[in-house]
Amino acid sequence: MSHQTILILDFGSQFTQLIARRLRELSVYCEILPFHTPAETLAARKPVGIILSGGPKSVSEDGAPKCDAVLFELGTPVLGICYGMQLMTDSLGGRVSPAAHREFGHAMVHVTSPEAALFSALPDNLRVWASHGDYVETAPAGFAVVATSVNAPVAAIQDPLRRLYGLLFHPEVAHTDRGLEILRNFAFGVCGCTGDWTMASFIDEATTRIRSQVGEGRVICALSGGVDSTVAAVIIHRAIGDRLTCVFVDNGVLRLNEAAQIRHRFADKLKLPLEFVDAADLFLDRLAGVTDPERKRKIIGQTFIEVFEEKAATLGTFDFLAQGTLYPDVIESVSVVGPSAAIKSHHNVGGLPEKMKFTLVEPLRELFKDEVRRLGRDLGLEEEFVVRQPFPGPGLAVRLLGEVTRPRLDLLRRADAIVTDEIRRAGFYTSLWQSFAVLLPVQSVGVMGDARTYEATIAIRAVESRDGMTADWARLPHELLATISSRVVNEVKGVNRVVYDISSKPPSTIEWE
Ligand code: XMP
Repeated sequence: MSHQTILILDFGSQFTQLIARRLRELSVYCEILPFHTPAETLAARKPVGIILSGGPKSVSEDGAPKCDAVLFELGTPVLGICYGMQLMTDSLGGRVSPAAHREFGHAMVHVTSPEAALFSALPDNLRVWASHGDYVETAPAGFAVVATSVNAPVAAIQDPLRRLYGLLFHPEVAHTDRGLEILRNFAFGVCGCTGDWTMASFIDEATTRIRSQVGEGRVICALSGGVDSTVAAVIIHRAIGDRLTCVFVDNGVLRLNEAAQIRHRFADKLKLPLEFVDAADLFLDRLAGVTDPERKRKIIGQTFIEVFEEKAATLGTFDFLAQGTLYPDVIESVSVVGPSAAIKSHHNVGGLPEKMKFTLVEPLRELFKDEVRRLGRDLGLEEEFVVRQPFPGPGLAVRLLGEVTRPRLDLLRRADAIVTDEIRRAGFYTSLWQSFAVLLPVQSVGVMGDARTYEATIAIRAVESRDGMTADWARLPHELLATISSRVVNEVKGVNRVVYDISSKPPSTIEWE
């Protein structure tokens, strides 16, 4: 059951996770570990290769993150990328210096040696993406320089005898031509990987693992309606059948037709029994008169726990709670550039585990989001659902500024459905991190026909983001915005104005509350 594994040491680059995702795309299993992991611990994992990531520091700086230099002597292939290459150079006796011209962005790299293992079967000239202030002045003894660029005479190095390799640019980013092939050359050519990490093998192993963890026990799963908890439920169901019980709580702040779609997906498509709790009235009663965003969140979170516990109590006893935790939540991140890099807000389904004394079953702990999507497809979930954008737990309540009432929810739902519909139709839905409508608590003057109106404003929010931590507003075509605007005003009674949110995160947030 153990796969050929490449271990990635994280020196704080924003691309570290991308290295891992690219390797996984190549069907190579990999894990990210903190940069200071002792060589002994690495060796005990019997990796087929080690990758040193990039990082924001300079090797000569005080407090620059260093790895255990013994790892260069393990005989395991090591690839240093950017900072990783500089660190390898510095540790093994080469020279790293500040560059007169920082290389940032696109650069042309010229491969100078036909022996260059990482560039096997690739053209001699490649457009790559670089981001470094330091350059390698002299490679360590034993290394050959195998590629150069104008600002970085030593752009790639190798010492095949010791199985050590370095790249000053980032093969993991999409802006590097043939970057995936460079990583493939390292993984398959140098490390001898065979590509034994596939979704089919994952499904087999995960079901075996779930069976052995759960034994004869019973598992309860709080479905959020999103991709992660759904995929977790489906794979657990494969493993233990009806000893899994799924509970979905309609909290009254779902999108148009969402509750019906969830019931249909589970009952008709997946044939997976679902305990559906319609608690919309309870949630909306408790939200009546509340306008403070944090209070809305609290009420929704607490009511969810209450409703869920009450329902669970009627369903017998459970030993385990299923959760759709993903790998990015599990990676042990060490801060390289100060505490802010380690801050991560965590949104769980209502904070259940702390409150309820269950053992967790987390079948997706090893997977990235794109792998969960692939898994979802392989498990028979429909494409439209699998590529769904994230939706917050407190739902439309945090997209409806001011009091949550049924008429206002109804208005927002209809406007939101139009936004989603048009964004999908124009082909932007999957490239955007999120796109949705927000109902503002203001009325403004307008004119319709011959009459003056005094009605609501809808804001459109559409952002691009890698992980939701930072985001930029999407430069959507004006024609698309125009279509959305006129449809919303014409089709949603009570709206006479549509605005487009042009704020980035930070300083704004993605949601309005
Ligand atoms: P913000 O608004 O903080 O959102 O920029 C970042 C990402 O998190 C989502 N989000 C939530 N998800 N419960 C959730 O499950 C929440 O309370 C919550 N608040 C924000 C948001 O949709 C975005 O993807």
